[in-house]
Amino acid sequence: MALSRKFLIHAAITVVLLGGLGILGAAVVVLGGVYNVAAIYQHTRPVYEILDFALDRSVEVRIGGIVAPPLEDPLLAERGFHIYRDKCVQCHGAPGVPPDDIGKGMLPLPNNLAQTAREKSAEYIYWVVANGIRMTGMPAWQYRLNERDLWAVVAFVELLPEFSPKEYGEWERKAGER
Ligand code: HEC
Repeated sequence: MALSRKFLIHAAITVVLLGGLGILGAAVVVLGGVYNVAAIYQHTRPVYEILDFALDRSVEVRIGGIVAPPLEDPLLAERGFHIYRDKCVQCHGAPGVPPDDIGKGMLPLPNNLAQTAREKSAEYIYWVVANGIRMTGMPAWQYRLNERDLWAVVAFVELLPEFSPKEYGEWERKAGER
């Protein structure tokens, strides 16, 4: 009994010391400015993998209650195109359209959303567009766009994988004629 109590005390002291060492280490890293926040250097591979995984999980656990409305209506996608052209293309680009200098200079680089549309659900895209992603530069749109417009832009993003640069150019031209 006495021995196990001694063991517990030693274990507790070790945990406290290790915790203290951890805090000291973190303080050295932070106060020493060790981590380079420049947007011209990618995170190290392990940091990138952890952040990317954490981002995915963070969104996945929050989209449970969201149900996408029917998105096939061409008028909805057309409405989404106008919003995309106004609020998204400068960072994300579009088929045949590179991002503006702002988008090109960001880190993380704004994703190619045709790729996103292939990999993620409409609900995932809706959540990100509505809520944004803190500390990446992805803005939250829920206070700038109403519910219908948020889904309209999702409907348009869902079409991106099928868009050729020529087709996107035609939509651009039609929009310019109005
Ligand atoms: C100021 C630049 C900027 C603007 C404007 C912007 N985004 Fe983003 N977006 C980003 C960045 C940066 C990310 C995060 C990239 C990362 O985490 O790797 C992102 C991420 C996303 C993602 C998640 C992609 C994925 O594969 O996980 C979606 C979806 C998205 N944006 C859609 C939009 C839509 C739709 C609009 C317009 C309503 C928009 N964004 C406007 C910069 C921007």
